[in-house]
Amino acid sequence: MGPRLNLIAAVCENMGIGFKGELPWKLKSEMAYFSKMTKGTKDPNKKNAVIMGRKTWESIPKKFRPLPARINVVLSTNDIEVDEGVLLCSSLEGAIEQLQQPPLNSTIETVWVIGGSSLYKASMDLPECHRLYLTHIKAMYECDTFFPTISPSFKVINDPDVPQEILEENGVQYHYKCKITEDDFFIEVL
Ligand SMILES: NC(=O)c1ccc[n+]([C@@H]2O[C@H](COP(=O)([O-])OP(=O)(O)OC[C@H]3O[C@@H](n4cnc5c(N)ncnc54)[C@H](OP(=O)(O)O)[C@@H]3O)[C@@H](O)[C@H]2O)c1
Repeated sequence: MGPRLNLIAAVCENMGIGFKGELPWKLKSEMAYFSKMTKGTKDPNKKNAVIMGRKTWESIPKKFRPLPARINVVLSTNDIEVDEGVLLCSSLEGAIEQLQQPPLNSTIETVWVIGGSSLYKASMDLPECHRLYLTHIKAMYECDTFFPTISPSFKVINDPDVPQEILEENGVQYHYKCKITEDDFFIEVL
């Protein structure tokens, strides 16, 4: 089995995640949470990896990519141009396999799947899927990209890194949740 995968996404009330290749909202503190969660390691000598689809990669403004202090992995079936140091893979399984090869395997702490839609679905179907970090935005935005259906077997847990309170920015309320698979729930909680 490969490394555990954590998924992270922000969704609005219709489970939308994107519109016209961008995020439908502008929430600076939610972006800061994404950054903190995907960068954070317990071991200061290690880094995390972020796996994303080609459209999510393109949605990041050029000056902000690759995402700093993380190993960026982009999935595409085409030989697209990516910055030096960015891993380009033609499948999710291929990406996981590459991350398990030395020297990467010993330097990576957590592998984060950061979207988009099909990648979230494929990752949730894998046994490596570990945690699902969702930001629920309590508003409705026009979206053309959506988070896939989440199996009811995912259970909400209290993760100490996840704030519990309802937050607000520019009049928009949102809250964070962490869900784990039923198997992990029995191992970790019971
Ligand atoms: N709210 C959030 O948390 C969040 C997070 C991420 C993204 N977004 C938004 O979502 C939108 C982008 O997401 P999206 O779902 O449209 O696209 P995406 O998943 O980012 O990219 C889709 C592309 O990625 C490649 N790909 C995906 N899975 C692959 C696989 N298993 N193997 C090989 N290649 C694979 C393919 O590229 P090729 O066509 O090049 O082969 C595919 O066309 C944007 O609007 C973005 O802002 C929101």
